[in-house]
Amino acid sequence: MKVFIVAGARPNFMKIAPIYRASLAHPSVECKIVHTGQHYDREMSDAFFEELDIPKPAYFLEAGSGTHAVQTAKIMVAFEPICEREKPDLVIVVGDVNSTLACSIVAKKLCIKVAHVEAGLRSFDLTMPEEINRMVTDAISDYFFVTEESGSANLLKEGKHQDSIYFVGHVMVDNLLHQARKIGDGTIDTSTLTVYSLKQQKKKYIFMTLHRPSNVDNASTFRGIISALNEISESLPVLFPVHPRTRKRAEEFGIQFSNQIILLPPLGFTDSLYLWKDAEAVFTDSGGLQEETTALGVPCVTIRENTERPITVARGTNVLAGTMREGILSAYRESLKKKTRAAVPPKWDGQASERIWSILMGLAKNDSSKRG
Ligand code: UD1
Repeated sequence: MKVFIVAGARPNFMKIAPIYRASLAHPSVECKIVHTGQHYDREMSDAFFEELDIPKPAYFLEAGSGTHAVQTAKIMVAFEPICEREKPDLVIVVGDVNSTLACSIVAKKLCIKVAHVEAGLRSFDLTMPEEINRMVTDAISDYFFVTEESGSANLLKEGKHQDSIYFVGHVMVDNLLHQARKIGDGTIDTSTLTVYSLKQQKKKYIFMTLHRPSNVDNASTFRGIISALNEISESLPVLFPVHPRTRKRAEEFGIQFSNQIILLPPLGFTDSLYLWKDAEAVFTDSGGLQEETTALGVPCVTIRENTERPITVARGTNVLAGTMREGILSAYRESLKKKTRAAVPPKWDGQASERIWSILMGLAKNDSSKRG
């Protein structure tokens, strides 16, 4: 069985890594990684391939940045001839970025089966580009691999058949546990990490990421968020790796950071994990970090009005803060209290990729017995 696994943007790389690694246990599977090039800076892209134990991509599509239409179209135009030439049996797409959308449309129109990993999540907020990507990808996918029960419920409501929906847990947690083990057992020499001395020096700190257009593309929203964090930084320093989009906007709007907010370049996976896993709390608008903090029991304040990952609030450490200064300050207090009550969601146990492959192998066997 020939399978393409698609990745394009930073949050995809940690999701495809465990799926690729688990494919190696199945000799009948030939798995090829396709990198669309949506993210291309070294620290947003290559650095991840080096540290996540996956080979260089078989195909690099060099799509790059652009408006949504331009970026999506460039990915589609580059992906189509490769599918036509190689004729994979299955295309696996992960998450909700423009690459997910573009490649699922191309594959489906060529009558290639599509599996969506992290299917069914819904914020019900159509101003988020990711929500549109999730809905369209799920509208045309054949197999749905779901991370939390809300995903199955949403898909059923949208008319999907129960037998195409598989609640497998979370591949991102597979990767997180794999990498955390490497830090814990000394496979990774943490003294070589770029953030090693910073962590030793600060000891107690907050970790923050922020990149969503709705938070950083509007000057007054961005200012309000930073004003809350400036206040919080009076009691604890805030370590803040800055996404390229955020850096551009901060310069454009002249955002003033307290000198207790330490601005860092975008970090690779290990550097980032090494910092946030021991943070007093994480402030973020990322989807993945809401889940990763829940998996490791680190308090998380999500700077958004909604989340497509409700299990992190219902069971995990996550508190939704909204994007206003007062909301952020009170969510911070709540998140510190919540830490002791939080639990890890069902099936977030590091085995999701294995479950996915055992399902896919079963489906392939059924197909071949029907044909034969
Ligand atoms: C994309 C995803 C978002 C994900 C985020 C993680 C979509 C719609 N959005 O948003 O879901 O959470 O990735 O980072 O797919 N840039 C660089 N170097 C890079 C990549 C981007 O400088 O390697 C700059 C460019 O100016 C670009 C901007 O960042 O225009 C935004 O990049 P883009 O891929 O369009 O969206 P993200 O905001 O990164």
